[in-house]
Amino acid sequence: MKTIAVIFGGRSAEHDVSIITAHIPIIDSLQAAGGFDIWPVYITKVGDWYADKAMNRLAFFKQPNYEAVLKKQKKVQLSFDKGLTLVWPGLREKKVKIDVVFPSMHGTYGEDGSLMGLLRMAKVPFVGCDMASSAVAMDKAFTKQVLVAEGVPVVPFTWFTKVSWAQSKKYLLEKISTLKYPLFVKPVHLGSSIGITKVKSFAQLENAIEVALHYDDKILVEEGVEDLIEVTLPIIGNYELTLASVERPLNKTEFFDFKDKYLSGGKGGGVNSEYSEIPANIDAELLKQVQDLGRKTYKTLGCCGIARVDFLINSATKKIFVNEVNTLPGSLYQHNWKKSGLSGVKLVTKLISLAEERFAAEQQLTHTFSSEILSKVGGPKVQ
Ligand SMILES: Nc1ncnc2c1ncn2[C@@H]1O[C@H](COP(=O)(O)OP(=O)(O)O)[C@@H](O)[C@H]1O
Ligand SMILES: [Mg+2]
Repeated sequence: MKTIAVIFGGRSAEHDVSIITAHIPIIDSLQAAGGFDIWPVYITKVGDWYADKAMNRLAFFKQPNYEAVLKKQKKVQLSFDKGLTLVWPGLREKKVKIDVVFPSMHGTYGEDGSLMGLLRMAKVPFVGCDMASSAVAMDKAFTKQVLVAEGVPVVPFTWFTKVSWAQSKKYLLEKISTLKYPLFVKPVHLGSSIGITKVKSFAQLENAIEVALHYDDKILVEEGVEDLIEVTLPIIGNYELTLASVERPLNKTEFFDFKDKYLSGGKGGGVNSEYSEIPANIDAELLKQVQDLGRKTYKTLGCCGIARVDFLINSATKKIFVNEVNTLPGSLYQHNWKKSGLSGVKLVTKLISLAEERFAAEQQLTHTFSSEILSKVGGPKVQ
């Protein structure tokens, strides 16, 4: 029996969505698969860690007072000793050694590579993208810069920080004036359309920048794609990639916002499949380009395990642009994998074996190097 820790919650704007992802596709499927001892590890909004099997049920988090219930419990500690062990200290100390971690955190401190860094230090296999790809994908400007360097098409853009906006506003406005309206102004680190404005004229620009800077200290200004078709492509794999169907979310508002993504239809559990076309009904030639660019983007960012690549297509010119990469697709895009023939159970078990495969490959690398530098370095010797 393998012991799996599913880590979710955390200090992120997408805290609540992370609880849903942890349960609906991950814990429920692991339970249905059987053969796993599942430990839910929940990080509160202020960063306290708890682990208790009662949290394997989503119903636990539907109690209005669940935070108060947790406060009465002992917090869990992490011990890094030849892997990861959960420890509940005290007189009746309890320890659980973890075989594989299944991160289920969206946004800051989780999906941004922070958790992956912690798990690398602990030397424990974990599902999904590693630290570097997670950190790059979490920053919309870094993502575009890395993709441009490898010839992947992205919309023309510029980026700047809060400090440079305060110091060099005129210069930045000149830079932005080379971009064609409509523009999109975005905080680089957030998701769920938070702080994003579509700017139709110069008169709206500064206000949109102020809004984005309210949420983030680094922002992106980019050209809007007209006659827009949005598609997304979920991918799994380490070396050999498996592509799900190219999916077209059919949103109703002017651009895809939080409500569309998570609440339409009131079912919860991520994007509502009723609002998606799977597979996307687009030209065969466009479809092929999306698949090729999806693979290239995944490899360029060094993704492994699972990720989802989002595209913006101008349906009039047939130009395709990679918009962003999600290293923990909400709900794992289970609805799409199911239509592509991979059940929830198969998806989570495959992701766990991919985690173990990558971990084993990493252990083959040499991480130490012997040198005589310490004995030869100058300075007084210990007597
Ligand atoms: N350059 C663009 N052109 C047209 N629409 C865009 C552009 N950038 C973003 N959008 C719209 O805004 C939505 C949210 O932007 P996105 O970059 O995907 O951020 P988020 O991380 O919030 O999903 C997109 O799904 C799309 O509908
Ligand atoms: Mg998006």
